[in-house]
Amino acid sequence: MEKQMLRSCLNKLEDKYGMLKCDVQVDPKFELGGVLEKLGNTRPVLFNNVKGNKMPVIGGMFGDREMFYDFTGTSRKERIFKYMDALTNPIKPKLLSSGPVKENIIKRNIDLGKFMPIPTFHEYDSSSFITAGVFVVKDPDTNKVYTSIRRFQYNGGNNLSALVTSPMLSNQMKELFKQKKKLECAVVLGYDYYFCLASQYSSQQYGVDKYEIDGGLRGEPLELVKCETIDLEVPAYAEIVLEGTISYNDEVMEGPFGELMGYYGQVAKHPVMKVNAILHRNNPILQISAPCKEEHLSNGIIRDIEVYTHVNRLVECTDVNVTIGGGCRFTAFVNINKKTEGDGKQALIGALSSSKDIKHVTVFDEDVDIFDYKDVDGAIASRVQASKDLFIIPGAMGTGLDPSHLVDGTTDKVGIDATKPLGEISKVFEKTVIPGYKDIDLKKFFPTVSNLD
Ligand SMILES: Cc1cc2nc3c(=O)[nH]c(=O)nc-3n(C[C@H](O)[C@H](O)[C@H](O)COP(=O)(O)O)c2cc1C
Repeated sequence: MEKQMLRSCLNKLEDKYGMLKCDVQVDPKFELGGVLEKLGNTRPVLFNNVKGNKMPVIGGMFGDREMFYDFTGTSRKERIFKYMDALTNPIKPKLLSSGPVKENIIKRNIDLGKFMPIPTFHEYDSSSFITAGVFVVKDPDTNKVYTSIRRFQYNGGNNLSALVTSPMLSNQMKELFKQKKKLECAVVLGYDYYFCLASQYSSQQYGVDKYEIDGGLRGEPLELVKCETIDLEVPAYAEIVLEGTISYNDEVMEGPFGELMGYYGQVAKHPVMKVNAILHRNNPILQISAPCKEEHLSNGIIRDIEVYTHVNRLVECTDVNVTIGGGCRFTAFVNINKKTEGDGKQALIGALSSSKDIKHVTVFDEDVDIFDYKDVDGAIASRVQASKDLFIIPGAMGTGLDPSHLVDGTTDKVGIDATKPLGEISKVFEKTVIPGYKDIDLKKFFPTVSNLD
């Protein structure tokens, strides 16, 4: 029985979440990503017949919240606490003497484009891209392991460029490169929901070993094996691991690439990773994440807990939705238990301070379902007077993933307080109720109609 990583998820993906199996030939250039996009990037698909390569490809795994909660043993109500708990109760990984990922080891004549069907997604993308790779590095001073999903441009042969925007990792690289040392790194493909989520905790905010966070999330140690050519450990049950190094004097132009918000990112020089070994299971499956908002959900789910913490310091926060529509980073809807006038504005200040990326925050009372856009829209329409309830902070920090930030390099932050006033006047906001509504069974009234849901 598969315990960890991708293969431990396959049966449930198929039986419970209707994973589609595509046996018709699909072209990894544009067509494969196009099929995932047509399915809303929320339906898992196993492509068994990819043009030009025997390796199957799996995509569409990480775009649905309920799947994340289910595969990590939690629920919408409990997940913020479970995901925070992993930070305070991390579990150290366990090193095995060997594991399935070492069933095959390739050290010579590496050509990644021949080994696996790396997809190309958009018309002007500079090349094909590995999009779901979890990048693994070790801090040489603390021995902490940092994991993060990064995209890798395929440059031919064993040569990739890594897009690394993390301030901590960039500094670590600068330090190493000053001493003319190489950065040893690995790219892990074919993982599960725990490993994916663990990779999305911000190193800058928490500075935690992400293998230990993974263990904390899954409630048991992450099982690892030693790499062959570098001083790193990698998940024993992964599908594929690329081992390599990044040198101080090796950079190439990266991009353009169609990024999550649906625009091409900027072209710039980025470090080259030379792949010196490939570890892979027998009959490996290539895992991909189409570059879309939905596949960034893991990032948004972790940002929920960041926003929650920043708000809850100030007022009682009851839920957070860092929305998919806002790229899982720009927009947050926040529920609070409002106790005093001013709580709404305090909550906005807290949420806007949670990261530089966050741009638009709206705060609601608990009777608004922040995962239901109609409810959110209705509350903004009926509870907000802009002259009192909206504020703008012009010219703050932002990110180039938002093209409007690039106009002058700053981002305006917006807070909207959609909470009801307290006291006698709050009665005008009391929601109407139909007595007995939840017990009404439509089948009783329309017994011959089947599509009533
Ligand atoms: C599907 C997906 C793709 C991502 N691609 C990149 C990327 O190419 N470059 C990057 O710096 N971050 C990317 N991220 C975000 C990082 O993985 C994320 O911010 C992570 O927490 C960074 O870890 P760190 O704080 O240890 O640097 C991606 C996230 C997801 C979910």
